[in-house]
Amino acid sequence: MSVALVTGSGGLIGSEAARHFAGLGLEVVGIDNDMRREFFGAEASTAWNVRRLAADLGPAYTHLDADIRDRPALAEIFKRYGRDIAVVIHTAAQPSHDWALRDPYTDFDVNAGGTLNILQNVRDHCPEAPVIHCSTNKVYGDRPNSLPLVERETRWEIEPGHPYEGGITEDMSIDACLHSVFGASKVAADVMVQEYGRYFGIRTVCFRGGTLTGPAHSATELHGYLAYVMRCNMERRTYKIFGYKGKMVRDAIHSSDVVSAFEQFFRAPRVAAVYNLGGGRHSNASHLEAFALAEKITGHEMITEYQEANRVGDHQWWIGSNAAFQRDYPRWKQRYDIPMILQEIYEANAGTWVPA
Ligand SMILES: NC(=O)c1ccc[n+]([C@@H]2O[C@H](COP(=O)([O-])OP(=O)(O)OC[C@H]3O[C@@H](n4cnc5c(N)ncnc54)[C@H](O)[C@@H]3O)[C@@H](O)[C@H]2O)c1
Repeated sequence: MSVALVTGSGGLIGSEAARHFAGLGLEVVGIDNDMRREFFGAEASTAWNVRRLAADLGPAYTHLDADIRDRPALAEIFKRYGRDIAVVIHTAAQPSHDWALRDPYTDFDVNAGGTLNILQNVRDHCPEAPVIHCSTNKVYGDRPNSLPLVERETRWEIEPGHPYEGGITEDMSIDACLHSVFGASKVAADVMVQEYGRYFGIRTVCFRGGTLTGPAHSATELHGYLAYVMRCNMERRTYKIFGYKGKMVRDAIHSSDVVSAFEQFFRAPRVAAVYNLGGGRHSNASHLEAFALAEKITGHEMITEYQEANRVGDHQWWIGSNAAFQRDYPRWKQRYDIPMILQEIYEANAGTWVPA
């Protein structure tokens, strides 16, 4: 067993996973059809990242331009590598809340149907391989918005002493709340991944991410929030703030901290695991705080436009807890916080993200 099969290998998490698992000595097979370009336009294409992977990893990386909705194509790939597949890392998705409204069929076919296709192929061809699935905190729908929040000068905060003060844990219900079309397709995938664990004994994990970020993100307005803040600042574009006085809080985790968590799971996989994974208390900011950090790095003021209405179902305050994962995998170490992440995104894009 020597192959890491990575779906969405041109994307933020997929490309970081491809590099990381190649570094562990595995042969990486990446599947990506650049559908991010179809979703969000040319500026969000991930083709550049695939070219970079191929150049940097050489023969350790094989790219397959396949669509995870295409059952015959996927079956052929899984059949070809069969039990050589040591791990499946599933990151391909339609990742945007807002985009899903435009085309719920495609959103569901990619997120829910595509995930089922991966799971069934694992069951048919490589049932020993652990499956690492990128879920999302949007599976909790808008339930976090029912938490008692207090307004501070630059952010919303949870009431002191609340059980979730250290971060929201996996015991929050995902039921009976508003999810958005995207949230619902990701719930379907999340539950199916758990089911292939519980029902068929496959070692699966759902990582329910907060904001996942880093320089490898093809940042665009509808997806890639923190990188998009920096992109707007560097390109002198207007950043649109949707409601909550710009004080909504998100935690943010660097893609390299995400894939080092993947490695820990790969080394000691469990059946039907579910973990929140995000910046947590170590790495979080409100929009206003993120703007101030970006301004400090570039020396340029953010150009912003405020719209009173928040995005439907958008989280007003999300800080997740990594405690369950940390308890099960004590060797995992989170390295980045938001100032470090923004600095790195800035440096990586200094020659590219310039005013038009
Ligand atoms: N970035 C975040 O803030 C965040 C937060 C929570 C969860 N997640 C989840 O993590 C995963 C990875 O996110 P990301 O930020 O790396 O996304 P991304 O858009 O950067 O990468 C996804 C990749 O999948 C590819 N893809 C999409 N549809 C495909 C299809 N039908 N067939 C083959 N390839 C396809 C895209 O071209 C893209 O390169 C997703 O499941 C996403 O929902 C992301």
